[in-house]
Formats: sequence, C-alpha cells, structure tokens
Amino acid sequence: MADSLYERLGGHSTVFEAMHRLYEKMQNDPAISHYFDSMDIVSLTRKQVSFMTQVFGGQPPEETRSLNEIHENLNISNHEFNVLVGLLRETLTEIGVEVAIQHEVLAIIEDGRDDIVQIHNE
Ligand code: HEM
Repeated sequence: MADSLYERLGGHSTVFEAMHRLYEKMQNDPAISHYFDSMDIVSLTRKQVSFMTQVFGGQPPEETRSLNEIHENLNISNHEFNVLVGLLRETLTEIGVEVAIQHEVLAIIEDGRDDIVQIHNE
C-alpha cells in the first residue's frame, strides 16, 4: 500500500512543526486572532496535531466531536477560512513541504469548509 499523506509529509515532526507555526500565525493575524484571545493555545495545538495526524492517515480516527459541532457557535466567515488556508500554505512552504503534497493537505482542509463556515457572503 502507498505511504499515507502523514508519512509522506514527514510524520509527527512535520505535523507538529506545522501546527505550532500555524497557530503562531493565526494568533498574530488581525482577521482571525480574536477567535483565540482567551484560548489555551498549548492545549488547542496539541488537539490540532492529533486531529491532523488522523485526517492525514497517521492513525485510526478517535471518536470526537464533528468539525461542525466544534465550530458551530463561532460564526466563521468564508473570508476568515480563506485567511487560514493562506497561512497554512505559507507555513507548509516555510518548512519545505513540496507543492504536490501541499495540494493534498489543502484539499483535505478544503473538505472541512462547509462544516466550519457559517457566514457565506464575505
Ligand atoms: C478561520 C478558520 C478557523 C477558525 C477561526 C477556528 C477556530 C477554532 C476555535 C476558536 C476552536 C476552539 C473551540 C473550543 O474549544 O470551543 C477550534 C477548535 C478546533 N478546530 Fe478550528 N477553526 C478554524 C478552522 C479549522 C479547520 C480548517 C480545522 C480542520 C480541518 C479545524 C479543526 C479544529 C479542531 C480539531 C479543534 C479542536 C477541537 C477540540 O478537540 O477541542 N479548525 N477552532
């Protein structure tokens, strides 16, 4: 069987590095930083590493809340989602993930858009 996206990305160290950098950027971005003002970023980053490990095929999925349930009261807009996608792309480039693999990662994140975005007219 072909290696999972998780393995092709470089496994735990790459996902860990990417999520730490991404949260740093999200906390500093004027369009979306307000979502994270009162959040425990260490705990959120840990959960995100675990979630990304699962969606990239690194380990069997755990029973957890759906993306829709997690984000349902946050009123996230399409524009804000696009900001996150841009920051993720920037992060993956910074840590040297090749473009073809970046596209696979971004396609998986894109699959979550409908569950996460509530404000569509921005
Ligand atoms: C602009 C886009 C996004 C914003 C503003 C955002 C915001 C947030 C916030 C504020 C939380 C904490 C919720 C809480 O603990 O009550 C959270 C949790 C989480 N988000 Fe997002 N999110 C975004 C996009 C995404 C994307 C694209 C994914 C994955 C595809 C994702 C996956 C998760 C996961 C796995 C958690 C952790 C839930 C847990 O286990 O506690 N988010 N997000």
